[in-house]
Amino acid sequence: MKSILLLHGPNLNLLGTREPAVYGSLTLDEINVRIQTAGKEAGLEVRCLQSNHEGALIDALHDARNWADGVIFNPGGYTHTSVALRDAISAIGIPVVEVHLSNVYAREEFRHTSLISAVCKGKISGFGWHSYWLGLMALKEILGD
Ligand code: DQA
Repeated sequence: MKSILLLHGPNLNLLGTREPAVYGSLTLDEINVRIQTAGKEAGLEVRCLQSNHEGALIDALHDARNWADGVIFNPGGYTHTSVALRDAISAIGIPVVEVHLSNVYAREEFRHTSLISAVCKGKISGFGWHSYWLGLMALKEILGD
């Protein structure tokens, strides 16, 4: 069975109460369970991790080299600022799909720039929790059944 890391960046632990009009009303745990269930149905094991710390996210990406076949990654605000996360994605050599709950292009201009998109397989933005589901389906295709 192929294994997937579902990695969430800063402030996503507050989902459910954080700006629900922008990010939806599901909690992070509820999203994780939905993606793990969809993963099981698709023959993929999904392990979930969230951190508010850039270094911990980098460590998680490095560790993923040892066990994961692909990564679904919502880097939160670090999307727009982190050269270090971009370098980590380049370094690990496994496919990473960038995911955002909100449509970043319909929001403030600073959210239109992603430092990580160019080193990801692709990017999904604007479909609420389904963005993660679409990311899972994309990885399933990339990894082959
Ligand atoms: C986000 C979009 C980012 O701009 C923001 O900083 C987040 C969440 C999203 O999922 O829509 O924290 O990545």
